[in-house]
Amino acid sequence: MIVPILMCGGSGTRLWPLSRKSYPKQFATLLGDESLFQASARRYSGADFAAPVVVTGDAFRFIVTKQLDEIGMAADTVLIEPEGRNTAPAAIAGALHVAGGDPDALILIAPADHAMADPAGFRDAVLVGAAAAREGRIVTFGIRPTRAETGYGWLEAGEESHPGVRTLSRFIEKPDADRAAALLGNPGNLWNAGIFLVRARTLVEAFEAHAPAIRQSVAAALEAARTDLGFCRIDEALWAGVPEDSIDYAVMEKAANVSVVPYEGPWSDLGSWEAVWTEMPRDTAGNALSDNATALGCEGSLLRSEDEGIELVGIGLKNVVAVAMKDAFMVADMSDSQNVKTAVKVLKDKG
Ligand code: GDD
Ligand code: MG
Repeated sequence: MIVPILMCGGSGTRLWPLSRKSYPKQFATLLGDESLFQASARRYSGADFAAPVVVTGDAFRFIVTKQLDEIGMAADTVLIEPEGRNTAPAAIAGALHVAGGDPDALILIAPADHAMADPAGFRDAVLVGAAAAREGRIVTFGIRPTRAETGYGWLEAGEESHPGVRTLSRFIEKPDADRAAALLGNPGNLWNAGIFLVRARTLVEAFEAHAPAIRQSVAAALEAARTDLGFCRIDEALWAGVPEDSIDYAVMEKAANVSVVPYEGPWSDLGSWEAVWTEMPRDTAGNALSDNATALGCEGSLLRSEDEGIELVGIGLKNVVAVAMKDAFMVADMSDSQNVKTAVKVLKDKG
């Protein structure tokens, strides 16, 4: 059995105004009729998976239980981080929790905000990696790159060690533009999907070797955790001393026992409105429209009304994204949609 560790504490500011501090994108119904979190929980369920361990913030604990209940699931444990400290502390908290029960259990550390149109295909890829993970490898999943992306991790794959599994010669997190262009030049290189399959104790050992301060401080904060209404509330005072880092920088770039399962199926981390537009059904002119949105003479545009009371009409638009919420409205050039993050910062600074 594989224990999914669902990380869903991020704020997802690149999908503002749909994604909010109080209700970030993973809990919103961005594609189809369930939230990205629900889709993730269901993706990692079935015969090969145990109930998930969810790592999230205090503000989201009831959203988590309610959304799992809606799809007929329940978490094994909801670990509450007093504050987001990026993915390294979240991942090791989950790994330590599972290792306390069964150090040899396989865990799947996964973000809860990806779109994967072929969940069964990805479950198969996870199972392909299981033999290597049981032997002490940290298994990543590699996506065939289509551009010199600087916002992802890159994987330099080496020899095949098990069927469908390659050892990794190098893990490069968020390279600069020149390096990303060079990495794209080698057809063997892959993007890191941000999902890791590993034995609980292997990950604990990797943190001990490469990020001991994170491991020790998280372990102390977890030991002092208290149960509150069925949630596992990590100790706030001890958590304040946990260093902030991503699992990619803290461990993956440094560890020698990393492998990759190349995955050819559809994958998107929905990092921008443009990525959401790509994943939505589109009309013949390339427009993706929500209910209550109408496009007249528009091309390649995304028009979403997230409020039943708001009719959104676009006329003669080309490559525009418009998102209307009850209390905020955003219009942007599609190619500029990455800059939504900057807009959120500007608004925050304005107070
Ligand atoms: N619980 C919890 N706590 N979850 C968190 C926290 C935290 O403090 N910070 C981030 N997360 C969740 C986010 O919600 C997201 O689902 C996931 O962890 C990954 O964090 P991101 O911040 O989105 O990482 P990234 O996109 O910059 O980079 C990672 O993903 C890429 C692919 O999408 C890396 O693994 C890259 O190497 C990878 O290519
Ligand atoms: Mg991301």
